[in-house]
Amino acid sequence: QNEKLSVDKRLTEICELLESNIPYYDWVGFYFKNGDKEELKLKSFAGEPTDHEIIPFGKGICGQVAVSNKNFVVPDVKAQNNYIACSIHVKAEIVIPLFVNGENIGQIDIDSHTEDPFSHEDELFLEWVNEKVAEIL
Ligand code: SME
Repeated sequence: QNEKLSVDKRLTEICELLESNIPYYDWVGFYFKNGDKEELKLKSFAGEPTDHEIIPFGKGICGQVAVSNKNFVVPDVKAQNNYIACSIHVKAEIVIPLFVNGENIGQIDIDSHTEDPFSHEDELFLEWVNEKVAEIL
């Protein structure tokens, strides 16, 4: 129980660190697959609270990454038809799957109020963050 609490706390700290230090990271959260259900559940985040704490597989950018197992970089959310809007301010999004023993168990999701802000370096950096997170789960 204590160990579980400290994982939640550490994930929240990671979200807060990223959101407060990188100007174009405006919302940062970790979603994880919800047991045996075909859905993602929000575990930790920094930024405005979202109504979308549960996302079915296949729905939105997050739900698509749950099934594709691939990074999804969205330079302009308006150009996406399978997209779940969390805030009218969001212009771009990046979702990077989180693997444990080769299995996609969740993801880091970042929203930006800046248009087209994410580069290949963000992908590499967030892949590294997820590798570190996988070690503490
Ligand atoms: N925009 C996401 C939903 C999650 S919010 O960004 C916090 C999506 O389309 O899956």
